[in-house]
Amino acid sequence: MNFEETKTMLENKGQTQLLKYYDELDQTQKEELLARIGKIDFSLLEILDNPSMKQKRGDIKPLSALKLSEIDKNRDSYEKTGIEAIKAGKVGAILLAGGQGTRLGYDKPKGTYNLGVTKELYIFECLINNLMDVVKKADAWVPIAIMTSDINHDDTVSFFKEHDYFGYNSDYVYFFVQDMAPATDYNGKIYLEEKYKPAMSPNGNGGWFTSFAGAGLLDEFNKLGVEWMNVFAVDNVLQRIADPSFVGATIQSECVCGAKVVSKAAPDEKVGLLCTEDGRPSIVEYYEMTDEMMYSKDENGDLLYNYGVILNYLFSVKELIRIMEDKLPIHVVEKKIPYIGDDGVKNKPEKPNGYKFELLVLDLIHLMKDCLSYEVRRENEFAPVKNLTGIDSVESARELLVKNNVEI
Ligand code: UTP
Repeated sequence: MNFEETKTMLENKGQTQLLKYYDELDQTQKEELLARIGKIDFSLLEILDNPSMKQKRGDIKPLSALKLSEIDKNRDSYEKTGIEAIKAGKVGAILLAGGQGTRLGYDKPKGTYNLGVTKELYIFECLINNLMDVVKKADAWVPIAIMTSDINHDDTVSFFKEHDYFGYNSDYVYFFVQDMAPATDYNGKIYLEEKYKPAMSPNGNGGWFTSFAGAGLLDEFNKLGVEWMNVFAVDNVLQRIADPSFVGATIQSECVCGAKVVSKAAPDEKVGLLCTEDGRPSIVEYYEMTDEMMYSKDENGDLLYNYGVILNYLFSVKELIRIMEDKLPIHVVEKKIPYIGDDGVKNKPEKPNGYKFELLVLDLIHLMKDCLSYEVRRENEFAPVKNLTGIDSVESARELLVKNNVEI
């Protein structure tokens, strides 16, 4: 689009503030601004004017899990099925690493954070080490695709190269870049991050499959014969990836997906809970739960809504393809967004000053026909690094790594 076309389009959308500094820019910046505006997905903003587009909840009911006691009894059989699938090349892994990790306050990709105390131990390294356990057991490489964003892609790729993929076979490591979404003020006007650059941020982790397919990796994984994809977050350093028992249990259950869950630490713990909604699996956020739901118990005295998700899912590729065209709900989140003020000077706000728009991987679960809820031991499999100190932090993750005999 040339300047006139862009201006007309922005007038129609009420977003002409994006051209406010156009006349001050040099030719390259002018072209860059027009190109960037041309790529914006404005449809995400429609939700601000149409509250009816907001996610509406149906009839929520508890979903019980395949419990640890039962898993322990059948572990050999599950592992055998899982290892067979991995050996046959049917299992791939998707590492979601496109987030900005703002809570950690570290300006490089979160996976490059060094958790080591007496030696170097990076978050990415912990994850690769965990995956290597499975590779050794199955005697087969698991293809792993790493989702980055425009903001951290180059740093992530060069970090893996510099560290020789932490001993992983680089032929089985793929990278793809997720989409970006505009960031707006409270009136829905897109901010300028620079005079020649609209404010954009990664569009959440929910768009991973579309971006993965768009990058040609679905074809690549199809050629390898991948039928199951284990999707997980960068920040849980105790994450078991392509866990044979989880894979085997999901296959044996004949469900089209599986989700690792932990028993809630307290009835009001702030975790998303795996439930059913209108008969299909669904993840309900803690703030959507009524007190009654939070505290109700079953006949054994266990919490009815007891199983929290830890962002570790196994999806059937066929099912992901089936739902590919389905729309995910858009989540509007308040964030601190750096912007060029009316005086032309860049501001870095201390408090939230607008909205970002995100799609979430947890919403994919509700599009699935069914889902195996698979319980894991929190102390062995859940050590998220969200903050520097306190809950879910560098500190708590270090403690948990040590408890799990990882040298740090
Ligand atoms: P979080 O919800 O913790 O978000 O992401 P974040 O952006 O990393 O961190 P904060 O909230 O700013 O502190 C959960 C997982 O989803 C990935 C993250 O990298 C992490 O693995 N993610 C998140 C993406 O891949 N893309 C996104 O746009 C957002």
